[in-house]
Amino acid sequence: MSASLVCIDDYEKYALSVLPRDALDFYRSGAGSQQTLADNRQSFLRYKIRPRFLRDVSNRNSSTTILGKKISMPIGISPTALQKMAHADGEVATARAAEAMGTIFILSTASSTSIEEVAKAAPNCIKWFQLYVFKDRNVTRSLVERAEKAGYEALVLTVDLPVLGIRHADVRNKFTLPQHLTYANFDSLTQQLKNSTNKVCLKDYINAIYDSSLQWNDIKWLKTITTLPIILKGVLTAEDALLAAEVQVDGIIVSNHGGRQLDDTFATIDVLEEIVQAVGNKMEIYMDGGIRDGVDVFKALALGAKMVFIGRPALWGLAHSGEDGVNNVLNILRNEFDTTLALSGCRGLGDIRREMVVHVTRHWK
Ligand code: FNR
Repeated sequence: MSASLVCIDDYEKYALSVLPRDALDFYRSGAGSQQTLADNRQSFLRYKIRPRFLRDVSNRNSSTTILGKKISMPIGISPTALQKMAHADGEVATARAAEAMGTIFILSTASSTSIEEVAKAAPNCIKWFQLYVFKDRNVTRSLVERAEKAGYEALVLTVDLPVLGIRHADVRNKFTLPQHLTYANFDSLTQQLKNSTNKVCLKDYINAIYDSSLQWNDIKWLKTITTLPIILKGVLTAEDALLAAEVQVDGIIVSNHGGRQLDDTFATIDVLEEIVQAVGNKMEIYMDGGIRDGVDVFKALALGAKMVFIGRPALWGLAHSGEDGVNNVLNILRNEFDTTLALSGCRGLGDIRREMVVHVTRHWK
C-alpha cells in the first residue's frame, strides 16, 4: 500500500492531479448543478453511529453472501465506462483487484475492454454484467449471450438512463471516445465514431442508440432471453422497488448513477430505508453513491443494504497505479469497515442493528 495515500480522498486528489482534463471531467462530473452529486456525500455525514462497547470484538468477520455466493466483504465495484482512460490496463486491472479481494466486479456495457477479455484475465472473479438496452434488440441479445457464455453470474440492468444526463463539463469539452480507445464490446460503434468527420459527442451517440422506450414489460422480455439473475440498477423510490418485486427480479441497486443522470433527486442513502421497508425480504437490496469510507458502508448496512458498490474510488485507484491502486482502495475500505465494526461493538454484519445509526436532525428534534 502506498505510504502517503491512506484514504480514498488521497487517491482522489492524486487522480485529479494526473488525469487529462477530458477524462477527469468525465469521471468526476455530475449532472446539472451537481447538487445530487454533492448530496450523495453530504447526506452520509448527517447519519451518526451509536456505538456499543464491552462486547468482545476480538474476532471479526466482514464476509457476507450475495445471491447465494460468499464474498469477503460487503463492498463491490460498480460499472463505470471507459476505464482505460484512467490506466492502460483498464477493466482488467479492476476485475483482478476485485478477484484478489474476493468481491464482485460489475463490467459496464460501455467498457474499454471486452466481456471476453475481462473474463479471461480474471477467471475467478465474481463478475456481473451491466446492461444497457439498445434500440436494436439483437445487439442486447448478443451482449446477454456473450456475458452468459463468458461466465458472468448476473445481469445488472441500468434503468436510470433513458437518455444521457446533461453534464456541463462534458458538453463544454465535447467529450467523445479518445482516439486510442474503443468501446470494446462493439466494433461497429467504435468504427462509426472514429470514421465520423465531426467530433461526435458521446451524448448524441448514446441518445441515438439506447432504447428510451424501455418499460416494465421489457423486463419480462429480458427474462425470456436469459437464465441469469437480473438486478435493476437505479431504483430510487418504494413504488418502483415494488414494481421490481412484482416482475420478480433478483435484486436492486439503489443508485442515482453517482449524481450523473437526474440532478436534484435524492441522495441514495436518504431513500435506501424507504425502499428496504417497502420490499422486505422479497429480494436483495444494494446501494451505491458517495461511499468514500468504511463508516459509510456501516451506515448503509444499518439502513438495510445487503452490500454497497463503489464507482469513482476504483477509478482513482486505477489512475494511481492500475491493479495495485484498485487493490489499495479496496483494502483501505475493508480496513476502515472492519475498524468501524470493532469500534461499534460488532463482530460481523449480523450484529449491525438499525438503531446503531441515526439521522442527526431526526434524532435531536
Ligand atoms: C458511471 N456509472 C455507470 N453506471 C452504469 O450503470 N453504467 C455505466 O457505464 C456507468 N458509467 C459510469 C462512468 C463514470 C465515470 C461514473 C463516475 C459512473 C455509475 C456507477 O455505476 C455508479 O452508480 C456511481 O459511480 C456510484 O457513485 P460513486 O461511487 O461514484 O459516488
